[in-house]
Amino acid sequence: MPFPTTRLRRLRVTPGLRRMVRETVLTPDRFIYPLFIVHGEGIRRPIASMPGICQLSVDQAVVEAEQAVSLGIPAVLLFGVPAVKDAVGSENFSDDGIVQQAIRALKATHPDLVVIADLCLCEYTDHGHCGIIREGRVDNDATLEILGRAAVTYARAGADLVAPSGMMDGMVAAIRAALDGAGFIETGILSYAVKYASAFYGPFREAAQGAPKFGDRKTHQMDPANAREALRELALDIEEGADIVMVKPALAYLDIVRRVREACELPVAAYNVSGEYAMLKAAAANGWVDEHAAVLELLTGIARAGADLIVTYHALDAARWI
Ligand code: PBG
Repeated sequence: MPFPTTRLRRLRVTPGLRRMVRETVLTPDRFIYPLFIVHGEGIRRPIASMPGICQLSVDQAVVEAEQAVSLGIPAVLLFGVPAVKDAVGSENFSDDGIVQQAIRALKATHPDLVVIADLCLCEYTDHGHCGIIREGRVDNDATLEILGRAAVTYARAGADLVAPSGMMDGMVAAIRAALDGAGFIETGILSYAVKYASAFYGPFREAAQGAPKFGDRKTHQMDPANAREALRELALDIEEGADIVMVKPALAYLDIVRRVREACELPVAAYNVSGEYAMLKAAAANGWVDEHAAVLELLTGIARAGADLIVTYHALDAARWI
């Protein structure tokens, strides 16, 4: 029945009506809060390009996790800044590594918190690349062995999920085999299945001190122009045993989030990355957007596109504002 009989404004007249017909409901259950862990004690070192986010020593990560838990956020994602970087990223697969220590401390204080360990070499290697370098290039297959070893140390420390983010071919299968071989059959894999070579990781590279010393990541991360290829990455990771798949970044890739959601039955995560966070914080600090409304609108958009889970630095604020 066309206008004037049909009036879509009828269901927008009052807050109650709008609430009843709202299609996407944001809840803290969807949020994963990233933490940057550094060596030392009592450290909360602000990251200039990510206002409100700090590098945290293990004791302070426990305090930060307490906040997340009290706001109803189920999960944290851990990144480590090692004491020493070397060619193979040794601290990444040491049982005493900074992330392994943080996992144990978080599990001891918050047994119900879901602890996810990011799994990549770039923060741990002196060259800042996501794998072992041979003849100036990232050697895919040599890197798989290291990823498997690191995954086992995270599982042994008590991580619920490991999250490989290096876009190596075969990484999920190698990690699954390593975990199963060591008896960690219940440790899951949240794969960064579809990760683009994005300009929006800039602030993260300050936060995690993992910028490449030469070259870039374009031989392993995806070309932002490609969408069909995302479905190939997705299919492989599912076949190799991923439990949750992630699309990253989120905002310039909402079409990809939607396609991935429609192409599989796994839980889908989206990563609202550091550059997306930094842009919003900068605009809000200038009074150019209303931070509260803009953050909730962006997170709702990511959820509406099809993300079941959202990794976001806004998690604490958004949980308070919902
Ligand atoms: C790699 C990794 C990166 C991010 C998460 N894991 C950086 C990169 O690929 O260069 C970026 C996250 C963000 O920007 O918030 N370990």
